[in-house]
Amino acid sequence: MSGGERAVDEGTTPGAAPALRAFLPSDVPQVAELERQLFGPSAWSEAMLAGELRAHGRWYVVATLGDTVVGYAGLWFDGDVAQVMTIGVAPAIQRQGVGTMLLTALLDRARELGASAALLEVRVDNAPAIALYERFGFVVLTRRRRYYQPEDVDAWTMRLELGGAGGADGGVAADGGPDAAAGTDPVAGLDADLDADAGADPDAG
Ligand SMILES: CC(C)(COP(=O)(O)OP(=O)(O)OC[C@H]1O[C@@H](n2cnc3c(N)ncnc32)[C@H](O)[C@@H]1OP(=O)(O)O)[C@@H](O)C(=O)NCCC(=O)NCCS
Repeated sequence: MSGGERAVDEGTTPGAAPALRAFLPSDVPQVAELERQLFGPSAWSEAMLAGELRAHGRWYVVATLGDTVVGYAGLWFDGDVAQVMTIGVAPAIQRQGVGTMLLTALLDRARELGASAALLEVRVDNAPAIALYERFGFVVLTRRRRYYQPEDVDAWTMRLELGGAGGADGGVAADGGPDAAAGTDPVAGLDADLDADAGADPDAG
């Protein structure tokens, strides 16, 4: 596959689209800063993000412009359904298709894994995110009262049928490694070699 370095170099070209690659442990400080900007008091800390990268069945990607992380997203595949764990785009470049790029990558990965469906939680007052999810075909399944704390806000659980039968091995953790993360093609080229699961810790998560 083409190298991650090439993808990042392309991101430095004026007007270039962000490139997608695996979320590496070295990205955690930048992503934590984005978390704080996007989610305020309920932002994930650096420790929580690092734990996510190590946890079983996780698959995380970042969108970069040069060396700058401008978006991130991740999923958890439990052997049946894929849960969208998070998605965020830097405020300065929202509404330019990066969220679509990230969510497309997650859902492509979920389909590769054979997930029967994708699930997510979203604040009931988060109109931009709900609009994004609805564009992909997610529908509301249920309302979860006071799901977000400390804000004390309800969540919608949304679901997208993917048609898979569920995976064979209960997760994406078995085959990935940190080196696999280096092989990244932007957007459509994101495929099985972009396996962000670096830790394969079956006890985590
Ligand atoms: C939700 C989020 C990831 C979307 O990222 P993005 O890069 O702006 O999304 P895109 O540019 O790909 O938008 C795709 C579609 O989503 C919808 N959408 C995105 N932002 C929207 C907004 N502010 N208002 C209404 N619809 C919006 C639109 O349908 C849009 O398509 P359009 O621009 O052609 O109308 C981004 O707003 C974000 O980071 N929000 C803060 C973090 C967050 O809430 N994450 C979700 C947690 S569940």
